[in-house]
Amino acid sequence: MKHTAQQTLAINSPETYWQEQAELVAWYKKPQTILSTNNDSWHEWFADGELNSCYLALDYHVEQGRGAQTALIYDSPVTGKKQKFSYSELTSLVAKFADVLRAQDVNKGDRVLIYMPMIPQAAIAMLACARLGAIHSVVFGGFAANELAVRINDAEPKVIVAASCGIEIAKVIPYKPLIDEAIEIAVHQPKNCIIFQREEVQASLMQNRDLDWQEQIDVAVEIPPVPVKSTDPLYILYTSGTTGKPKGVVRDNGGHAVAMLYSMKNIYGMQPGDTFWAASDVGWVVGHSYIIYGTLMAGCTTIMYEGKPIRTPDAGAFWRVCAEYKVNALFTAPTAFRAIGKEDPHGDFLKDYDLSSLKRLYLAGERLDPATYHWLKEKTQLPVIDHWWQTETGWAIASTPLDDGCGNMIPTKAGSAGFPVAGFNVEILNASGQQVPAGKQGSVAIKLPLPPGCLATIYRDPERLTSGYLSTYPGYYMSGDGGYIDEEGYLFIMGRIDDVINVAGHRLSTGEMEEVLSAHPAVAECAVVGINDSLKGQVPLGLVVIKNGVNTSDEDLISELKQSIRNDIGAIASLKKLLIIDRLPKTRSGKILRKTLRQMIDGQEIEIPSTIEDSQVITELSSTLLNINKA
Ligand code: COA
Ligand code: AMP
Repeated sequence: MKHTAQQTLAINSPETYWQEQAELVAWYKKPQTILSTNNDSWHEWFADGELNSCYLALDYHVEQGRGAQTALIYDSPVTGKKQKFSYSELTSLVAKFADVLRAQDVNKGDRVLIYMPMIPQAAIAMLACARLGAIHSVVFGGFAANELAVRINDAEPKVIVAASCGIEIAKVIPYKPLIDEAIEIAVHQPKNCIIFQREEVQASLMQNRDLDWQEQIDVAVEIPPVPVKSTDPLYILYTSGTTGKPKGVVRDNGGHAVAMLYSMKNIYGMQPGDTFWAASDVGWVVGHSYIIYGTLMAGCTTIMYEGKPIRTPDAGAFWRVCAEYKVNALFTAPTAFRAIGKEDPHGDFLKDYDLSSLKRLYLAGERLDPATYHWLKEKTQLPVIDHWWQTETGWAIASTPLDDGCGNMIPTKAGSAGFPVAGFNVEILNASGQQVPAGKQGSVAIKLPLPPGCLATIYRDPERLTSGYLSTYPGYYMSGDGGYIDEEGYLFIMGRIDDVINVAGHRLSTGEMEEVLSAHPAVAECAVVGINDSLKGQVPLGLVVIKNGVNTSDEDLISELKQSIRNDIGAIASLKKLLIIDRLPKTRSGKILRKTLRQMIDGQEIEIPSTIEDSQVITELSSTLLNINKA
């Protein structure tokens, strides 16, 4: 299958195509300008439109008569709690929490940082910000205080909304000490923290700064949505780049709403009343788009699952949720199914549940490896759709269409993320920016303009949008992924070509980990590279050269360094493999040859650059690194 008629129209006449799709949105003021250019010379969608994203996700459905329908299901095997909220109930709670925020002087354009586990209050806080036109920035609960502080300094939130704790299977993680520490480290000081007290941990509140969620909501009134411009920011979501400083991806309101409604219908085939489960976390882009905004804007029922694919209590957990709530489509990361497949290789748990409602499985966050693809297809007998996207795009760049336009299913291919979605003009380019022939690998780039819903800018750093994505290939957005398109038009995403790695579907920067390791007084230099892992896809490997005269034992130093990554970045970095070596391969100008290191680890043919300082280091390191994956 090459381009569909939709894709051809979206690429040749983007304005006509997206103007028509914008009809899906209940605008306050319908846009007349469809595609234009802003002051940073970046394109923007629907510039003169006005809307409110919270209204679209909640009030609109109540007005349409769906008030009694379940909007959100909270299922928490870690606490044993289950709770359902109808569209009317959720609207009322969100409208009240918006009043709570407003009482703290949060207005249109102000930032609110949200640090919460997978509980309904996270959704309520996000939607309440959207209701006010305030900009939320959700930080994943697995990040440590230092990472929180970096985000506080960049986003400069007026208020922080948090829960008293998160729960990782049986481990209770108090959040308040992390927040207090982050605020202490940060230069910017938020005015208030609003804390939702969970039964498991009662956080101590600081007078004059911290407020109790429930006490505030008890005295709040419901307030209406505030109209915002299409181009006003809805949220900032920080993601890892190639440097130590995370990038604040900014999402607008109007383009995002169009993309959400379009994708729910055309990629996921969802209708109002269907149940869509994105088994991810609100701290990631998947959570923003398909636990919260897309699913609710489409009038579907969403699920917030506070648990894991395994051990809460077993490898049947996902099937139990799908059966219990009659889930129509499930979206998660391949690592979740690798974990399930490892514990339940024969799919025995599948037999315990009625999965007749489940129509399709969607995977993203990392490449769906062929073995997991085949296992899932065989065990579930369902269409298994790998689809490729990024925090920056906010929705899928490639997927397999629901049908070929005549009702025929389009076959999926193991290892492929399908075909470019309408509006994403994907090309594979070589180093000099020319398109490579079918089947040949290159850099995966998207010809501009990007369709609605993609990044509006990098918060407070528009220059980084240009330097990070647009300058390598003029006229294109460089995705940072490598891959190829085969003769039949299937796109294969083979992995990052920069220093970003994907660990259990979590995007992490090796550069950031290197910064933490180098800060240790014993470390002379270091490199962190991603190595293959059968469960998490990739895990980081740290290679450290220590300074002369350091007396600490290697063992102690290794555990100190691992601990510093946990303290500064968080446990999700999963830096569990760390080697102390004599020297690293470098160029004469001192640049560490990371690509050469990766080739050594993967057992590939090593291209020794002519600029190498001393090629003897390759011989010294080769066998150690080649065996690292077997260790
Ligand atoms: N808050 C605090 N800590 C967290 C956390 C959170 N929200 N999420 C993870 N962590 C911690 C874990 O407790 C673990 O700590 P430990 O090293 O002390 O045990 C560490 O971070 C690594 O966690 P994780 O990557 O989840 O590994 P795991 O071995 O505990 O679990 C899987 C493996 C595959 C079950 C798990 O990674 C998983 O469910 N993956 C799916 C990911 C996903 O849905 N991604 C969304 C992208 S679409
Ligand atoms: P994130 O921004 O956290 O969503 O991570 C985006 C990155 O995850 C992409 O640039 C890819 O490297 C990887 N990724 C996401 N989905 C896929 C997929 N379906 N196939 C291969 N890689 C993927």
